[in-house]
Amino acid sequence: MPDPASAPLWVQARERLAAAQSVAVLTGAGISAESGIPTFRGAGGLWNNYRPEDLATPQAFSRDPRLVWEWYNWRRETIAKAVPNPAHRALVKLETAKPQFTLITQNVDGLHDLAGSGRILKLHGDIWRLRCTSCGAHWPDRRAPLPKLPPHCGCGGLARPGVVWFGEPLPDGMMQEAEHAAAEAEVFLVIGTSAVVYPAAGLVPFAKQSGATVIEINPEQTAFSAMADFSFQEPAGELLPKLVS
Ligand code: OAD
Repeated sequence: MPDPASAPLWVQARERLAAAQSVAVLTGAGISAESGIPTFRGAGGLWNNYRPEDLATPQAFSRDPRLVWEWYNWRRETIAKAVPNPAHRALVKLETAKPQFTLITQNVDGLHDLAGSGRILKLHGDIWRLRCTSCGAHWPDRRAPLPKLPPHCGCGGLARPGVVWFGEPLPDGMMQEAEHAAAEAEVFLVIGTSAVVYPAAGLVPFAKQSGATVIEINPEQTAFSAMADFSFQEPAGELLPKLVS
């Protein structure tokens, strides 16, 4: 009988994942990298060329809504060309196999929806939704490019992207739900995030302290790699389908 501890690490992680009844997943921009969407940090990251305080804060939007919208319009055009990759699809498969499953994402690109994931906790909102800064109405809009910048609401108010900017609170109650899932999870998967933006990043140590087996997938090391039970420095689109097979 072979000793299970001598199996390759990815096989051990696959077995741990297969045995879990309750799984939570935190994804970041890296899961969409293989779909052709730039990440924020690291090689080719958006924040190497743009300053978040000029484009992703409420102050930036008050100062120059058109500039902010031009940047979001450009991102919408890039994202509109992208399709889900094997990592997004593997999470759909995992969801159908688990009695308790929660997908928590920092991504606003909508690729988890396109892949067919069920309910998604979108901590940082959704680039395909717009919100009125006057009346608070919000609505979906998948046009890319938008025909007129900046867009307006039916009430005449200025519309903004339906995303969370630096300095803004997360959508009501969502972080509590994410924490609940992290606390309940037997396995917590951390995929494609640099895990430097809080409060989302805090879910990783929280899940670990709550007893979850933490499995990280990221070609680069992060501040949480050492704490993870398994840390795979590989592209998610290659490894994740193997872990859920
Ligand atoms: P980051 O751009 O900070 O991190 C992306 C991570 O994905 C990096 O650690 C990469 O090493 C990793 N990565 C790259 N290619 C990968 C691949 N093929 N498979 C797996 N991982 C890969 O993105 P986030 O952590 O999502 O917030 O950033 C968090 C937040 O900061 C974003 O939601 C956004 C940003 O500013 C707001 O805009 C509020």
